[in-house]
Amino acid sequence: MKLVVLSDIHIDYPADGQKYPDNLARLETAIDRINTAYSDADLVVFAGDLVDRGRFTEPYDVLKDALAGLSLRYALTLGNHDDRETFCRVFGKAHCDEDGYVQSAHSIDGTHVIVLDSAADAPAPEGYRGARAAWGQICTQRLERLKQWLQATNGEPVIVILHHPPRELGIWGDELLLREADTLIDMLVEHGNVRQVISGHVHSTTTAFHRGISFTTLAGGCTTVVEDVGRRENRHRRAGPAQMAIVLSDAQQTTVHFDNYVDANQQVRK
Ligand SMILES: [Fe+2]
Ligand SMILES: [Fe+2]
Repeated sequence: MKLVVLSDIHIDYPADGQKYPDNLARLETAIDRINTAYSDADLVVFAGDLVDRGRFTEPYDVLKDALAGLSLRYALTLGNHDDRETFCRVFGKAHCDEDGYVQSAHSIDGTHVIVLDSAADAPAPEGYRGARAAWGQICTQRLERLKQWLQATNGEPVIVILHHPPRELGIWGDELLLREADTLIDMLVEHGNVRQVISGHVHSTTTAFHRGISFTTLAGGCTTVVEDVGRRENRHRRAGPAQMAIVLSDAQQTTVHFDNYVDANQQVRK
């Protein structure tokens, strides 16, 4: 199975007050690359922070138009910058479960991809660009849905994708993680065959191993956050790279590659 994961594309419209005017062009670059290099992928997942200001419908309209150019099947979920109601006004219920959360489960060649909506129910404080509180939430209803999906896998390999990393990473975003992390991880450990948990949100590339499960974050499509790791000093944002993950998975092994689709480095040899 081949899976493409993007995150934090932060499409920023309307023009008034745009912070990231290049992000649409970056998304188009990603779509071109997927259509050419990864046209054999089974699924493309966008792991939240789809837009920068989720209170507006315009960025979701722009996103929907851009995604029409993607030749592969895709799944969407939300991050803290998104707003569920505004999202559904543009995309309808096609990416939602029966409770209206923007999450879905996909069975591909014996591997199960579970895409979870970790956007908090609480709104962002006044003056924030994001629509929801920055920390993540998987409420009782969403945990119940996850339980059903995990039970339906019959123990086959599972890959979980959600916007907020469940585990502390030793970097700036540790105050803004998933609130129900312990409950979530208990469920994943109990399943016994969760191969990988993939998140965005921190705009940094990390890998971790915890309680028998591998965790990955990808830098995503917007700015990349760089800091003196572990000291939370000298933190700054860089324009790139813009990064997606390419996941290869079969009965034996799951491998995550990182494709920097916007990258300042020169090619030195074919
Ligand atoms: Fe983000
Ligand atoms: Fe985020």
